[in-house]
Amino acid sequence: MPRPVMVIPPERFAAAAATEIADLLTEVIDRRGHATLALTGGSTVHPVYDDLVGRAIRWQQVEIFFGDERAVPPDHPESNYRLARETLLDHVPVPPSQIHRMEGERRDLDQAAQEYAAILPERFDLLLLGMGPDGHTASLFPHAPGVTEKSRRVIAADPPPLPVKPTLRRITITPPVIAAAARVLMMITGAAKAGIVARALEGPDDPAACPAQLARRGWWMLDQPAAAHLQHTES
Ligand code: 6PG
Repeated sequence: MPRPVMVIPPERFAAAAATEIADLLTEVIDRRGHATLALTGGSTVHPVYDDLVGRAIRWQQVEIFFGDERAVPPDHPESNYRLARETLLDHVPVPPSQIHRMEGERRDLDQAAQEYAAILPERFDLLLLGMGPDGHTASLFPHAPGVTEKSRRVIAADPPPLPVKPTLRRITITPPVIAAAARVLMMITGAAKAGIVARALEGPDDPAACPAQLARRGWWMLDQPAAAHLQHTES
């Protein structure tokens, strides 16, 4: 069965992704009266959040969670919460009590992760994800302990060391949360990721080596450059 992979011209990617998100949230709210949405960090999603601001979504019925966070205060430039607040949450009427940020500033990240797991819904109605050039998603990195986590739903994570600057510790959802999500939307753009996209979607199943494969059953929205190495999907 062909994977639900949508390949979009770059100039239309943000609007197409925002339409997918808006349509799904509307469908869930129509059916259930409310929806849970887990946001991703990263730069790919910036323009998508910008576009979402103008959509007719009943934000009062949406509950916001995060897929991962860096170990920084909420106003830090590297904070995923700050990204989401500046590009989306400050511009739509989600009640503050319905916005659940991961407390990356806490000294005890394990405790913060445990407390966040306790407020997670049984499953997200919509989980937004991105993928790094190494195939990581959320803050689940290749061959890191989190990729094989089977019971805990949120954990503290340590990215692989970088040669040039110290990496920030993370808090992240784990594979069981990705597996449980009613709908996963993976958004990837750029030619630089074409190789890892092909590996993630068409390579051997090895999520420990390529954690984005944990979202293989989800919907993948790619711009044409990111889809360029796929064999089974015309871009
Ligand atoms: C984060 C994200 C991470 C991101 C990918 C892609 O905290 O950085 O959760 O998983 O989605 O690294 O990032 P870009 O969109 O910037 O390439």
